[in-house]
Amino acid sequence: MSRQLRPTDVKRLNRLWRRRTEGRLALIAESVTQPFNLGSILRTAAVFGVEAAWLAGNTADPSHPQVGKTALGSEAKLRLERTRTGAEAARAAREAGFRVVALELAEGAMALHEAPLEGDVCIALGAEDHGCSPTLLAAADATAYIPQVGRVGSLNVAVAASIALAEARRREWAASGPEAPGAHEAPGAPGAGAPATRD
Ligand SMILES: C[S@@+](CC[C@H](N)C(=O)[O-])C[C@H]1O[C@@H](n2cnc3c(N)ncnc32)[C@H](O)[C@@H]1O
Repeated sequence: MSRQLRPTDVKRLNRLWRRRTEGRLALIAESVTQPFNLGSILRTAAVFGVEAAWLAGNTADPSHPQVGKTALGSEAKLRLERTRTGAEAARAAREAGFRVVALELAEGAMALHEAPLEGDVCIALGAEDHGCSPTLLAAADATAYIPQVGRVGSLNVAVAASIALAEARRREWAASGPEAPGAHEAPGAPGAGAPATRD
């Protein structure tokens, strides 16, 4: 029998994962014009501990009411900066110590699971209609694509962002040892302190 964690249990579980997390993450959104996509990206970014997001080109305004509908306040937890272009944002991210990995189905891109996502990484996302600009791709340290099996052209940009940020964290967590905290380990959660059971 299982039940959902209470908000306080979730906070404690998040704290356990925070203690196991050192790599710095950032992102660039280049001309992501749909407010609900930006809101969704910012919420995922806050979940995975992204410290800064550069909003480039004509990316939606984070104060737009429709951003808030998907971000649900998480936009306030991030350092947001505006730049004129994606390439400018890539340079700013590099100066801040990040390796910039552009996410795009592009020539020379490597599959995400083989991409250099270790350490301090900034994931760059392109526009809903035309993707990452050539100047952003040129300014990035590497380009990665998410392999697709279905007969579909591309992922929604917010979904692509989630997959890449989760993969960056997964790398670090998988490398840090086999003993991942289970939800039962959040003190106060049902079964707290009990050994993990796996079927
Ligand atoms: C809807 S896609 C852009 C569409 C596509 N580049 C085009 O011109 O038809 C928007 C953004 O989502 C990300 N994206 C979507 N699917 C992706 C995939 N399979 N691999 C890597 N990035 C992807 C990229 O950052 C891309 O720039």
